[in-house]
Amino acid sequence: MTQILDGKAIAQDVRNEIAEKTRELKAGRGIQPGLAVLLIGDNAASHVYVRSKAKACEELGFYSIVLEKPATVSEKEVLEQIQAWNADPRIHGILVQLPLPAHIDEQCVLLTVHPAKDVDGFHPENVGRLVAGLPCYAPCTPAGVMEILKRSHIETKGKHAVVVGRSNIVGKPMANLLYQKAPNANAIVTICHTAAPDIAYYTRQADILVAAVGVPEAIHGDNLKDGVVVIDVGINRIDDPAAPKGTRLVGDVHFESASEKASAITPVPGGVGPMTIAMLMLNTYRSAAGEVY
Ligand code: GUN
Repeated sequence: MTQILDGKAIAQDVRNEIAEKTRELKAGRGIQPGLAVLLIGDNAASHVYVRSKAKACEELGFYSIVLEKPATVSEKEVLEQIQAWNADPRIHGILVQLPLPAHIDEQCVLLTVHPAKDVDGFHPENVGRLVAGLPCYAPCTPAGVMEILKRSHIETKGKHAVVVGRSNIVGKPMANLLYQKAPNANAIVTICHTAAPDIAYYTRQADILVAAVGVPEAIHGDNLKDGVVVIDVGINRIDDPAAPKGTRLVGDVHFESASEKASAITPVPGGVGPMTIAMLMLNTYRSAAGEVY
């Protein structure tokens, strides 16, 4: 039997725990966690994500600000806004939704967020802390994957984890989290990417496969070994005339064929996706509680 890893249910457990800890933080120390989100332009997916983040803040009793700016906003105005939030004691976490318009320098924006409020874990200081195994904010999506593995009692120690994709948001931090010498990590990690002449050569060796390639159903069950644990980070909308809306969401893994090989697999939707926001809330809570810096 293939275990379906229910990210939605796990994310709800995490959120319930945060809600409880938030009540204690308010009652005990008078601190309400606060998150500020900057959304630039009219990327439809970004608007959906930001709405979910604001809703999660409301549910958990966080203070939150969502500031929307047109795609024509100047880089100077963006940097000044971030600096204002850096100095605002009500704000414990700052998130600038990516991608940014081409005229705004992403690295410059990410460097301006104070590392202690960088709940996305994208500032080079937090990236360095993650690599060095120091206290840090880990990027939310890979942190969510680690939480799914831990809470589903999936052994990672000594297992061969193959991460497909090398983005700063998922692939690189994912690999770093998996190989850390720590409980619920300690995996042997391979990162493969577009320069691999034959990706299947690597995926066939995976005990744990993490797919973050951004290509719908790119990884097929034929290229996986029996008993693999499949973590699908992809969210892709594809045309499907048979679906009620004419489209449907799929991952980076071909679910049906992969399920025949996997001992456990995350569905899309309802797998990794809901964990990203839960971990963002957790990072914001940890910032407010002073648990990291
Ligand atoms: N765009 C896609 N994923 C993310 C994320 O985790 N954080 C931010 N800030 N932008 C994103």
